[in-house]
Amino acid sequence: MGAPSSGHYREVVIGPDGLLTADEQRCRARVGVKWNRYGPDVVPAWVADMDFDPPPAVLDAVRGHIERGDLGYGPFADDVVEPWVSWQERQHHWRPDATRVRAFTSTLHALEAALWNTTDRGDGVVVFTPIYSPFLDAIADSGRRRIDVPLDPNGWRISGERLSEAIDDTTRVILFCQPHNPTGRVFDAGEVAAVAEVADHHDLLVISDEIWGDLVHPGAVHRPLPIGDERFDGRLVTLGSASKSFNLAGLRTAVAHIDHAPLLEALASMPKHLQGAPSSLGIVGTVAAWSECDDWLAAARRTIAARCEQLARRLAIDAPSVRFDPPEATYLCWLDFRDAGLGDDPAAALLDRAGVALSSGPQFGPGGAGYARLNVATSEEILDEIVDRIARAVDGSSSP
Ligand SMILES: Cc1ncc(COP(=O)(O)O)c(C=O)c1O
Repeated sequence: MGAPSSGHYREVVIGPDGLLTADEQRCRARVGVKWNRYGPDVVPAWVADMDFDPPPAVLDAVRGHIERGDLGYGPFADDVVEPWVSWQERQHHWRPDATRVRAFTSTLHALEAALWNTTDRGDGVVVFTPIYSPFLDAIADSGRRRIDVPLDPNGWRISGERLSEAIDDTTRVILFCQPHNPTGRVFDAGEVAAVAEVADHHDLLVISDEIWGDLVHPGAVHRPLPIGDERFDGRLVTLGSASKSFNLAGLRTAVAHIDHAPLLEALASMPKHLQGAPSSLGIVGTVAAWSECDDWLAAARRTIAARCEQLARRLAIDAPSVRFDPPEATYLCWLDFRDAGLGDDPAAALLDRAGVALSSGPQFGPGGAGYARLNVATSEEILDEIVDRIARAVDGSSSP
């Protein structure tokens, strides 16, 4: 069977209700980790990939490149810079300074490069826990010292007081995640101001991972950290990628806006190939996403909001012991199983008893015990199946 035509993708991407669609058979046929790690009897809702096809314009760009046999050197990584600058301006009213933008092969690549080049072994790095676990790995793997600042579980808010108290003489960096994975919080102006205050007072670098910034829900606004607070000036690295918004994590492309002279200098003095660069497919796919896919993103946001509502509705009826605060952004729901009798690691129990794969709460650090993260970026039918399985394991029944 030949490669599917562009028309094939166009037919299945957006359903008649204007929402994105996903089909289990197509998902299971993919080689990616989400549908393969746990085998055919498990329904996956763990890693942060969506089950929807990426935007047709991205697939066309990548396919066009392949069909031309255009897999030699180039285009250049810098080709992603202007599309990202105008994307940020259109979507978030921030015009990044293009001269400060550098391309990387992933957001975590940029994060680790920033951490490695601006700190020494033993230096303190602040994280707001629970937090996306690769942040914890990045600190441990580079021999830096982790400073946990727990979010208040009652609403997952940042406490400026706790943050201030946690800083010591060797603290150098605050790793910020806005919007926040796993809680789905969009930290408000007061919380961001508390971070700015402490960073300014203690002369800290802030690395702001804003990979989820495009996927905000109705009523929430993503405000990139570089706008609005001068206390971040000269001490801020802002990370972005098309990988979450357009489901392109395999294309390995990200950018960093570096408002921090020492890091710009350190990167410039590194051997050229040590920094690496995105592949040509990553570049053309990402450029297409940031240039032609505003409408697709709007459909993705609508779909994710609909799935979050579906999850809340279904859990309230079929598994009322499982609670969560609907996220303000992301397609990740941070579920509280502490009254559901599944122990500290409900994801492990659910994998075993229910054949459903969520992300394990404890791996997100302090605050994660008794929780699990559920990825709702899938079809209505698949999400219903996921909830049915959870409900059977938790409350011993599910709706017919
Ligand atoms: C907050 C956050 N940062 C980074 C990443 C990984 O991005 P990348 O694949 O571009 O490294 C993820 C993936 O889920 C994420 O949630």
